[in-house]
Amino acid sequence: MSAFVQAGLPQATLEPEVLNLLDQLGASVGDVSQAMSLPPACYTSPAWFEFEKRAVYDREWVATGHVGAIPDVGDYFTIEIVGEPLLVVRGKDDTVRVLSAVCRHRGHLLGEASGNARGFTCPFHGWSYDLEGNLTAAPEMEGTLPFAELRRTACLPVFRSEIWNGFIFVNFDGEAAPLAPRLKTLTGLLENHRMAELASIKPVEWASNKWNWKFMQENALEPYHTHYLHAGIHDFAPSSNVRFNDWDDADDGAIYREVEFTHIDGGFNIAGKALFPALPDLTDEERSRVVFAGVMPNLFLGAQADVVFYYVILPQAAGDITLRVGVLTSWDNLSLPTADLLLKGTIDGVAVFNEQDTEANIRTHKGLSSRVAPRTRWSPNEKTLAQINTWLIKRYKSYAATLGVYAEAAE
Ligand code: FES
Ligand SMILES: [Fe+2]
Repeated sequence: MSAFVQAGLPQATLEPEVLNLLDQLGASVGDVSQAMSLPPACYTSPAWFEFEKRAVYDREWVATGHVGAIPDVGDYFTIEIVGEPLLVVRGKDDTVRVLSAVCRHRGHLLGEASGNARGFTCPFHGWSYDLEGNLTAAPEMEGTLPFAELRRTACLPVFRSEIWNGFIFVNFDGEAAPLAPRLKTLTGLLENHRMAELASIKPVEWASNKWNWKFMQENALEPYHTHYLHAGIHDFAPSSNVRFNDWDDADDGAIYREVEFTHIDGGFNIAGKALFPALPDLTDEERSRVVFAGVMPNLFLGAQADVVFYYVILPQAAGDITLRVGVLTSWDNLSLPTADLLLKGTIDGVAVFNEQDTEANIRTHKGLSSRVAPRTRWSPNEKTLAQINTWLIKRYKSYAATLGVYAEAAE
């Protein structure tokens, strides 16, 4: 197969609303001691969402899932990233590729939600592709086009991908700088979880979450709310035990925080205890904390002693996201006779926190749509929110600069 495809969206003319919002970003620049939240319309405006598709999702590494969910040759899953249908496939050479899921004949989508296949046959007119995207059959086309020529021109486009710690990322414009060098500190922090070697349960998909994609990362990454919204059930991971890191422009792929537990092997369920045995290489110190990390823009993970839970955030509109939620743990843990029960307990446990966050996210999104929506200063425990905005504003300005707006951002 030839090199990956470069398929950025067409440049857009910035609408007055977007230009006006870009003008207001200055007050959100800086750290927690001085910055304000973004203008509320950055969460609610359809025009701003279109801008973000180009400024962020078109140009960055965007998470799709984890290799642990497709361990065998022919395993695949489909996913739509800001409307782009993709097939994430483990090929015959054991390489994971991100292919277009759009048939090269007339555009029917290929593949089921997930499965194992020897190739993909389009149900519409029977064109077939192998696991690497090569066209292998195109019935009844010989009368107009020889197969040899079709095969040259009608293979599935392969998007550029990178795998970090087992997580599979795609880059549409083909020009993003490599991701791993921008995740140095986080990679070190999570090294002993050995995430690339873990098994992933089949992710579950939750659609129609009525809040903005940025708010998903914000909620997950700030510990201010945990003492209030999750009062009682979060006490084993108190917000007073949070460790933040300082912003580093050269290592800005992720925004994260650690929270020390009140006891070893804490877990996010009503008992506050990990249900599976701890992952084998973790130190006692690592078993006594959780690392919450947002690999920007759309992967959130929580790494605790026995499992790593992860959310792939799939923006649908300014106020609508789909979430794919997965759990990673060791293959040994998954082969325990009680694995199904332990997994159910783990997922149900996280769901308790999730329900509270969901309610808060929906109600906050509504509030941000108000004509008198707030633009706030942060508490010290919202340090990560200023960091999220630092990450975002850099991308917003960099894209706007390519359109001749914000020329100073090129500095
Ligand atoms: S659209 Fe796929 S074979 Fe016709
Ligand atoms: Fe929460």
